[in-house]
Amino acid sequence: MIKVEGLTKRYARTVAVDNISFEVEKGQIVGFLGPNGAGKTTTMRVLTCFLPPTSGTATVAGFDVLENPMEVKKRIGYLPETPPLYPEMEVIEYLKFVGKLKGIASRDVPGRVDEVMKRCAVDDVRDKLIGKLSKGYRQRVGLAQAILHNPDVLILDEPTSGLDPKQIIETRELINSLAGDHTIILSTHILSEVEHSCERVIIISHGKLVAIDSVANLTNRLRGSEAVALELDAAGGRPNPTEVQQRLETVAGVSRVMMKDSKNGKLIFEIESLQGKQIRADLARTVVNSGWNLNELRSVGLSLEDIFLQLTAAEQKDTEPETQGVQA
Ligand SMILES: Nc1ncnc2c1ncn2[C@@H]1O[C@H](COP(=O)(O)OP(=O)(O)OP(=O)(O)O)[C@@H](O)[C@H]1O
Ligand SMILES: [Mg+2]
Repeated sequence: MIKVEGLTKRYARTVAVDNISFEVEKGQIVGFLGPNGAGKTTTMRVLTCFLPPTSGTATVAGFDVLENPMEVKKRIGYLPETPPLYPEMEVIEYLKFVGKLKGIASRDVPGRVDEVMKRCAVDDVRDKLIGKLSKGYRQRVGLAQAILHNPDVLILDEPTSGLDPKQIIETRELINSLAGDHTIILSTHILSEVEHSCERVIIISHGKLVAIDSVANLTNRLRGSEAVALELDAAGGRPNPTEVQQRLETVAGVSRVMMKDSKNGKLIFEIESLQGKQIRADLARTVVNSGWNLNELRSVGLSLEDIFLQLTAAEQKDTEPETQGVQA
């Protein structure tokens, strides 16, 4: 549905987007991640025909953003970083106005506006001036204008920025409810949002693509080693942390033992294995054979935060990132 090939965008001397390529299939939700200034907004502006690419191509449903911008715009709903709202208009008046701009037939406009106002939960402020709305409500009106013409593709630039936790959940649910028949790219700095909503993640850093994959695959590819959380105590006595740590370090396959906490005689460690080694069974045996109580032993997943930091750090050292791959 979306195809980007060798896309580069320069602003004077700044290379904001540097030769990136990716594809998004119909009906997918893709999370667009990257640190501030990575080039997310710039890529989205090219996809939505607001900026011409310096080189490379971008197509939406087979239409090129440079050659067929009208066809592209018909199929895209765009929520920019700052929604294009008119503060002196009432919500309902503004949405009707946008409906006409987007070419919805006049007789269909009121019904469609009603529908999106309900869907985006702005019904209760329909007669308020946009300039008097809270940021969260303005963001929802922005989303309402993006989906008004029922576009196949939604490009959402930080859709939950500035929303309170309840509104974040509501917006996330709204976005999830739009998935399936819509193809969605959303940028965000909230990584848990990507884990909740997105099937795939595109990570860019300094304008370059550093990874494009599912959250699960990213975790597996990067990890290769196991991380384990372990809690023990010494059955009545207080175990000596240094002694415990040293003994855990001798377990086969263990690369690192970090003490996380000690309270009321309980010790909590995080332990990492060498590449490809399973260490849980041997750890359990060592704890029990040492006469300690094993309170908890579980695998710790690599969080998306960890992945993000590893990838964006790796990219800085490496000037030739793979386009479809990941360097651990
Ligand atoms: N209009 C512009 N003129 C010149 N440089 C620009 C312009 N817009 C963006 N840039 C530069 O392009 C780079 C990418 O910016 P962009 O806004 O695409 O990043 P972003 O990933 O959306 O960041 P953020 O997470 O902060 O929104 C930055 O170095 C930025 O300074
Ligand atoms: Mg941005």
